[in-house]
Amino acid sequence: MAMQSLLTSLLLATPLLTTANCKVPYEEYILAPSSRELVPASVYQVNGSVTDSASLIHSSGGSTTFHGQSSVTYDFGRNIGGRVSLNVLSASSPDAFIGVTFTESSMWISSEACDATADSGRDSPLWFPVGEGPGKYTKDEKYARGAFRYLTVVSNTTATVSINNIQVHYTGAPSTDLRAYGGYFHCNEELINRIWYAGAYTNQLSTIDPVHGNSLVSDVENVTLPETVPWWSNSTITNGTRTITDGAKRDRLVWPGDMSIALESIAVSTGDLYSTRTALESLFAIQKADGRLPYAGHPFPDTVSYTYHLHSLIGAFYYHQYSGDQEWLISYWHQYKRGVEWALSSVDATGLANVTASADWLRFGMGAHNIEANAILSYVLHQALELGQALQDQSEAEKWSQIADKIKTAANKRLWDGNNGLYYDNETTTLHPQDGNVWAIKANLTQSDEQTARISTSLHSRWGTYGAPAPEAGKTVSPFISGVELQAHYLANQPDRALDLIRLQWGFMLNDPRMTQSTFIEGYSTDGSLHYAPYTNDPRVSHAHGWSTGPTSALTFFAGGLHLTGPAGATWAIVPQPGNLTFVDTGFSTRRGSFSATFRRDGGSYTEFSFTTPGGTSGDVRLPGTEGTLHSEDGRKVKLLNGVATGLQGGTWKLVG
Ligand SMILES: *[C@@H]1O[C@H](CO)[C@@H](O)[C@H](O)[C@H]1NC(C)=O
Ligand SMILES: *[C@@H]1O[C@H](CO)[C@@H](O)[C@H](O)[C@H]1NC(C)=O
Ligand SMILES: *[C@@H]1O[C@H](CO)[C@@H](O)[C@H](O)[C@H]1NC(C)=O
Ligand SMILES: *[C@@H]1O[C@H](CO)[C@@H](O)[C@H](O)[C@H]1NC(C)=O
Ligand SMILES: *[C@@H]1O[C@H](CO)[C@@H](O)[C@H](O)[C@H]1NC(C)=O
Ligand SMILES: *[C@@H]1O[C@H](CO)[C@@H](O)[C@H](O)[C@H]1NC(C)=O
Ligand SMILES: *[C@@H]1O[C@H](CO)[C@@H](O)[C@H](O)[C@H]1NC(C)=O
Ligand SMILES: *[C@@H]1O[C@H](CO)[C@@H](O)[C@H](O)[C@H]1NC(C)=O
Ligand SMILES: *[C@@H]1O[C@H](CO)[C@@H](O)[C@H](O)[C@H]1NC(C)=O
Repeated sequence: MAMQSLLTSLLLATPLLTTANCKVPYEEYILAPSSRELVPASVYQVNGSVTDSASLIHSSGGSTTFHGQSSVTYDFGRNIGGRVSLNVLSASSPDAFIGVTFTESSMWISSEACDATADSGRDSPLWFPVGEGPGKYTKDEKYARGAFRYLTVVSNTTATVSINNIQVHYTGAPSTDLRAYGGYFHCNEELINRIWYAGAYTNQLSTIDPVHGNSLVSDVENVTLPETVPWWSNSTITNGTRTITDGAKRDRLVWPGDMSIALESIAVSTGDLYSTRTALESLFAIQKADGRLPYAGHPFPDTVSYTYHLHSLIGAFYYHQYSGDQEWLISYWHQYKRGVEWALSSVDATGLANVTASADWLRFGMGAHNIEANAILSYVLHQALELGQALQDQSEAEKWSQIADKIKTAANKRLWDGNNGLYYDNETTTLHPQDGNVWAIKANLTQSDEQTARISTSLHSRWGTYGAPAPEAGKTVSPFISGVELQAHYLANQPDRALDLIRLQWGFMLNDPRMTQSTFIEGYSTDGSLHYAPYTNDPRVSHAHGWSTGPTSALTFFAGGLHLTGPAGATWAIVPQPGNLTFVDTGFSTRRGSFSATFRRDGGSYTEFSFTTPGGTSGDVRLPGTEGTLHSEDGRKVKLLNGVATGLQGGTWKLVG
């Protein structure tokens, strides 16, 4: 009680920190539920003899009765995750059972099994011995299902069973206020708005209580229905109260590659950097003596991956960039540098890293002088140089910068295919990968704007009906690598291509009826089937994967133009690339304060443009082709020169034509 009133007075004393007093802009687009106690939204289908199946939706009162073997599939209207409980009114036999099965996609609705968490078989239903009598039934927390949209309730005996409540305690993003986003995005196109928010929500669902990580229990081979495989989640994967994993249903593990996309999308939406810090710390906690970081966090087998090793280092940079947490960086700097050293040990006399540890994002043939690995290494070296500067540790600077230069020269000499305007995957293939080419742009391996433009054009010309292909992974569309492709088109100054890829690929992922209409799938096939080439078992595919949330950060950073160039935005650059969007309003916060930009356009020029950055920060504005003067709220005026203004102080600025 005393605690309660202390809390209340604290909240009253600091009204700006309470969400009740501070409306989140565009809150109506947020897909996260307002309560953690959820009931089904609708009845999807009924099988057998069931009375009043709709009684269990919207807690409408009344009860649902199963007469003998029968089932009802309920739809929660969006992908959710949590622990099911049911309230039984009566069961006509002590042998009665009620089971529940879960699936994210409508493709795997079944009264016999869930979709899958392993690469074979289907997961077992959860069974409740309701013949024991009336009352509330639930399972141990390790049987919370991380992601599902459809819940099938099945009665498997001849008994008559009445139920008056089915409820799911939502477990995603634990110990957070699910709708208190720190960031927002709005533009003139509804599809793009919905995609931004579905990306944000995908990361919330993939953020879990770290004591409920995947226990990797159900890898059983060759299971056929009705036989099913057991599953549960009780492995502790990180410290703390929550952590970002790759996917909500599975793997429910810390995967550094996935985080390279998820972390930035979290930074601009929920702002839950805490979850990314616990995840990163769990990776650094198991760094090897030689500096190597793991392919994935505990309890994943000890596999070596060159690229995922590098992704952990990228995660450390991003975490520092958006949090501005210098103390954290200082405490991990020694480990970070040892990580860079381990990566450099693969660089040979050609100047390129020769990759012998081939595990990557499940693409095939990742080895030798691979372009993706070398582009990522170069990207990491540039980040390392920046961090060294921030910490005034230049001990390795000369070496790192020389190696980065050599990678660039050697990659262009050995791997560039001038005829096709793309890099080869390695020296002994004619395959042009998506990953290596998009990363080459992101890492600035290209030597001219013209070369960058050619890659963007060549990638664009390969798009199919369902998105951008990743031929290095067979017939795969990878929302992970396509997330980087979005950035690559923006960096090539082709914002309309980036928008078109969002509409095409994420529009498909959001709206197709086999999807959840709320979260993004981890991978699928170029022919639109929901088969992900690396997996043999289609029900295994995850429909909520953090690595598929690239549009969320890309839209805020590039379309909205909010670029942080120093820790927590100590310095920034406001450089909108609207493409054909006519209205954008976006913002997010760091510990230094809020960053936001709003503009309207007509016929390709700004009719309104304003932005806000925190006091005590400084930065540049670039609005190519625009004339006018920027006016700050406190009376400063700065004329744009060739569309550019540099060295502006933080504040609210508005373009006056
Ligand atoms: C519906 O019932 C039939 C017969 O019991 C069964 O074969 C089928 O799998 C059930 N389908 C669902 C979706 O429950
Ligand atoms: C119903 O399912 C329970 C739990 O798996 C099982 O023990 C029971 O034998 C099943 N009953 C029938 C009639 O299939
Ligand atoms: C599973 O099936 C494959 C193909 O039929 C077979 O090669 C393999 O030995 C089987 N595995 C087990 C554990 O039975
Ligand atoms: C997780 O649950 C399984 C199945 O009940 C159990 O055997 C195992 O000991 C549990 N592990 C932990 C770490 O609690
Ligand atoms: C958890 O925290 C302890 C104490 O700081 C640390 O030694 C350990 O490595 C951490 N473990 C993980 C998985 O982050
Ligand atoms: C080189 O690239 C091709 C195409 O991706 C791949 O098949 C091959 O395995 C790669 N070489 C190595 C050594 O990984
Ligand atoms: C990479 O290293 C392996 C192992 O030392 C070697 O067999 C292979 O020839 C090297 N590849 C290249 C392209 O140098
Ligand atoms: C990219 O590399 C070129 C040299 O090829 C250099 O002039 C340019 O400044 C680099 N761009 C960035 C953003 O570092
Ligand atoms: C922008 O371009 C897309 C197609 O690339 C089109 O569907 C959309 O209507 C355009 N928006 C405006 C405002 O012209």
